[in-house]
Amino acid sequence: MSALEPLRHIFPRTAQATPEGHLAIGGCDVVDLAGQFGTPLYIFDEATLRHQCRAFRDAFHAVYPNSLVIYACKAYINPVLARIFQEEGLGLDVVSGGELAVARAVEFPPDRIYFHGNNKTPQELQDALDYRIGRVVVDNFQELALLEHLAGQRGIRQPILLRITPGVDPHTHAYTTTGVVDSKFGFPLEGERAREAVGRARASPHLALKGLHFHLGSPIFEVEPYVQAIAIAVDFAVQSGAPLEEFSPGGGFAIAYTREQTPPSPADYARAIATALREACARHRLPLPRLIVEPGRAIVGPSAIALYRVGVVKEIPGIRTYVAVDGGMGDNIRPALYGARYEAVCATKLLQPPTTTVTIAGKYCESGDILVRDALLPPVEPGDLIALPAAGAYCPSMASTYNLNGRPAIVLVSNGSARLIRRRETPQDLMALDVFP
Ligand SMILES: Cc1ncc(COP(=O)(O)O)c(C=O)c1O
Repeated sequence: MSALEPLRHIFPRTAQATPEGHLAIGGCDVVDLAGQFGTPLYIFDEATLRHQCRAFRDAFHAVYPNSLVIYACKAYINPVLARIFQEEGLGLDVVSGGELAVARAVEFPPDRIYFHGNNKTPQELQDALDYRIGRVVVDNFQELALLEHLAGQRGIRQPILLRITPGVDPHTHAYTTTGVVDSKFGFPLEGERAREAVGRARASPHLALKGLHFHLGSPIFEVEPYVQAIAIAVDFAVQSGAPLEEFSPGGGFAIAYTREQTPPSPADYARAIATALREACARHRLPLPRLIVEPGRAIVGPSAIALYRVGVVKEIPGIRTYVAVDGGMGDNIRPALYGARYEAVCATKLLQPPTTTVTIAGKYCESGDILVRDALLPPVEPGDLIALPAAGAYCPSMASTYNLNGRPAIVLVSNGSARLIRRRETPQDLMALDVFP
């Protein structure tokens, strides 16, 4: 049995073991990809990417036809991916001028772009208005005033949603919890602030309040927090007089990173969210709003693997064996930042029995630069390749150039061919912005 078998649900859909025991994704042997593009390498599988887009789109349409899936670019975006999301009928959730610029670069339809963020700059808001984006999701009073001013200057009425924090705990890591009252994001429902924001937005001649948004956190392995928060948000809409033409319960849909994890499916999330929204609206005799959902992780996460080359194997007898690879916290900060866990396979020895427990360490000058603790692998040697599945979300997008290591190359594979969608950063790139003496 190949080492892939117990991990099939975590790897991209096209993952296979070749007869030599190599990992192949999208019909491409990763040994060839490493030879051609170098390592560390992020490999996105186009079939999985499109499958995940369709899974969310179809699951929500099936139970709630008036819905739109917008992809949360923060999980990872680049122009090629943005074009794929456009082709798949998704919208985009952007949180910066940079993400907006990528959308503009591929002429992404502006009406399907939503602009999030707790501290949008005047320049970012101006760019968004100039591109006539569909919605600004207003987070706070300063932004409300600034946006009103900028929209007024342009003589337009900008459609907005208000971001509220419903005070529901999604039971995830504190760093990725956003919907509780003590949060830097959104208008808290406790007290009068959120109600005041609704009043101000409704009174503005330059803002058109369309509805409410919340985002609870990520990843959320249960549907119950969504159900609870939807009831709270709809009650609030009625009490505050907020219109509810549109409603967004955010993203945060979980994926499996490790073999024992079994997150709800897109259909499970869709059913729970649609039912909660229908029930809340029926209770208040409200017409059903348009439903907007914002998956990021769940679209790109399962679509990519990270591929590393082993450089050093260090055995400390009786204690631990470190397998050091040529990437680490610079391309994947998640384990160091919030203890995220990953599976790993030796991509050059898939058919050898996993008999040794090792720690996969990165090459960065931090003891905390550990990618996987206690990975079960066959005996590995320098030169072997290690693959981490479920690496598409919040890895390249959070990458840094720490220790002046360049960020990895990224390829998109499909039907046996690989396309470079981001080249590797070189030392020249790293110095390109420096001023020399
Ligand atoms: C407002 C908002 N929407 C959507 C997302 C996407 O979350 P995920 O990638 O977990 O689906 C986030 C993540 O931080 C967010 O803040």
